[in-house]
Amino acid sequence: MLSRLSILPRVPFGRISYINSRPYSTEPQPEVVKQKNDSPFEKVTVFGAGLMGSGIAQVSAMSNHQVQLVDLTDEAISKGQAYIMKSLKRIAKKKYPESQPDQIKFAENIYSRIDFGTNPELAVSNADLVVEAVVENVEIKRSIFSKLDTVAPSQAIFASNTSSLPIGDIFSVLPDARKGNTGGLHFFNPVSQMKLVEVVKGSTTSDETFDKLTRFAIALGKTPVSCKDTPGFIVNRLLVPYMMEAIRMLERGDASARDIDTAMKLGAGYPMGPFELLDYVGLDTVKFITNGWEETYPELKASGISAPSKMLDDLVSAGKLGVKSGAGFYDYSKKN
Ligand SMILES: NC(=O)c1ccc[n+]([C@@H]2O[C@H](COP(=O)([O-])OP(=O)(O)OC[C@H]3O[C@@H](n4cnc5c(N)ncnc54)[C@H](O)[C@@H]3O)[C@@H](O)[C@H]2O)c1
Repeated sequence: MLSRLSILPRVPFGRISYINSRPYSTEPQPEVVKQKNDSPFEKVTVFGAGLMGSGIAQVSAMSNHQVQLVDLTDEAISKGQAYIMKSLKRIAKKKYPESQPDQIKFAENIYSRIDFGTNPELAVSNADLVVEAVVENVEIKRSIFSKLDTVAPSQAIFASNTSSLPIGDIFSVLPDARKGNTGGLHFFNPVSQMKLVEVVKGSTTSDETFDKLTRFAIALGKTPVSCKDTPGFIVNRLLVPYMMEAIRMLERGDASARDIDTAMKLGAGYPMGPFELLDYVGLDTVKFITNGWEETYPELKASGISAPSKMLDDLVSAGKLGVKSGAGFYDYSKKN
């Protein structure tokens, strides 16, 4: 057991101590997973200590970046710290199966690269890259970036991890001088394990920014793919219609969920069937994405691929959101 990790010194919360809690220049450099990377960035600030933001902070720290992780409340920060700790323990155990001291050293070193806090202005004052991974709401994302524009260095790059919002809409509130320094960095869940990053080139993203974001993804050990600012980018544009089509097949009574899953696993070689995937992704998330497409993209609406499904709507209304709520298309209540 990594018992010492649970008593790691907590980075003090608070406004002043936020940046100063661990001056970068005087601390010994922790061990890193990859040796000095070719990242174009040194200081990375991540907004949102939820599922994605904490993962992005973690992989950034693991690849030798100095990281600030920001959320609204100390409670949200504590949750993010717990996510990171749990993931680091898992990786450490795999990396050093025989040596508990090495596991602890590894995890502590990575963890010590992340400063946590609730003061956005301080967190971006010398950032090279800001990655936003807050709730999927365009107004909240816009308001964060317009505030940050006045306090972050002028050369800092702003990136959003949005799954479903147009990058151009998020950054539309910024002055032209900053717009070239913006783009999309779409990570996948769980961030520490999923290899892909979609690097999204919005209509204002400069070639230099796009190149830096791509190099950053590589420095994190990820495989970047390049994508235009289109609905769902690459993965979700293909995956969401596929999952919706599976639901429609079930609604029509063509086959059972279990048989559709088995068919796609054994007949198409997919690692998960569409209903297993729906439950894993979260039914609310899929509904949110398709609703957004219906509202924002007339051509998708006309095609019918994002049309609402009564079965999906009913499950979400009943709180059956998938694995995270204990039930979705399948029941997970007996598994724990
Ligand atoms: N969950 C996924 O599988 C997934 C995959 C790829 C991309 N995304 C995208 O990543 C983003 C975050 O998703 P998530 O699943 O991590 O959400 P989450 O709900 O787990 O976390 C969001 C966090 O943002 C924080 N937050 C809200 N407003 C904030 C603000 N003004 N400043 C700082 N923090 C703020 C919340 O307190 C919360 O901790 C969304 O845009 C989502 O579309 C999610």
